Amino acid sequence: MISGLRDAASQTTRAVHGELAAAFSLEGRTAVVTGSATGIGRQTAITFALAGATVVLADRAEEALAETAAAVEAVGGTALVVPTDVSSKEAVDDLARAAVRGGGGRIDVWANVAGIIRNGLVMDLTEADLDAVLGVNLKGVIWGCAAASRVMKAAKRGSIINVASAGGEMPAPTLAAYGTSKAGVIQLGRIVATEMGPYGVRCNTVAPGFIDTPMTQRGWMDADGVVDDARRAAIVDVRSAQSPLATIGTPHDIAYAMLYLAADASKFMTGEVLRPNGGVHMP
Ligand SMILES: NC(=O)c1ccc[n+]([C@@H]2O[C@H](COP(=O)([O-])OP(=O)(O)OC[C@H]3O[C@@H](n4cnc5c(N)ncnc54)[C@H](O)[C@@H]3O)[C@@H](O)[C@H]2O)c1
Repeated sequence: MISGLRDAASQTTRAVHGELAAAFSLEGRTAVVTGSATGIGRQTAITFALAGATVVLADRAEEALAETAAAVEAVGGTALVVPTDVSSKEAVDDLARAAVRGGGGRIDVWANVAGIIRNGLVMDLTEADLDAVLGVNLKGVIWGCAAASRVMKAAKRGSIINVASAGGEMPAPTLAAYGTSKAGVIQLGRIVATEMGPYGVRCNTVAPGFIDTPMTQRGWMDADGVVDDARRAAIVDVRSAQSPLATIGTPHDIAYAMLYLAADASKFMTGEVLRPNGGVHMP
């Protein structure tokens, strides 16, 4: 009798596990991840692959992109590598075509992760830096949303996820180019959500706080890539002190938020901003 009850209980537990697994599964789906050569994009691609997706890896850093493909394959995933400069509309349209061709005729998830940063006071901003930042962070995300929207509109389903930043909402000196581009990404996500909702396509934004990736590691490395440990400790201390959790984030912290928005678990969510930022910003 008791063992019968125990069996019934464990079957219920398994059923719950099955329900959760389905809600977070990307089995049979194709996911494009830009900026997937390093950092947050690389971990997002690996996490999507672990959830069952075929991942289409897009970045302009070709060598590192091949390393991501190897990491995806090492966890049993399938990766298609499409070297892409996201600031070019033509290149992003080519990426979409390659993804549909190589991804079983479908794109279910499109994550716009590629981004660059140039710090500088607004009075010192050069045209070259402004064009570079807006070209990747804003134009690149717009072209990604455009290409994904066209494919997903026809399929009447899909999830677009754009990566912004806490710097898109929190004003701080030297973020004129970067912060403005990320504020644009946040508003773009809401606009795309209104345009695409009627077709069953969702668009959401992830706005990370300070994450340990090559982008931030450049702050404590010299030109040859040698780490200055004292400088690293000082920067990490300052950034951690801004968080109620007294820590900085990892690429995994962002990849799990991306997975939630990619999967059916978030099917009632669109036009939203998720803020895995350690609590540094709570609007
Ligand atoms: N690291 C952080 O603290 C942090 C915080 C908030 C937001 N973000 C955002 O997260 C995203 C990922 O950044 P990360 O921290 O992983 O940095 P990262 O430098 O490791 O990754 C950025 C990736 O984008 C790629 N990229 C740059 N320009 C490109 C282009 N024109 N075409 C295609 N690919 C291009 C790079 O090659 C690189 O692989 C960025 O959008 C960044 O702004 C990062």
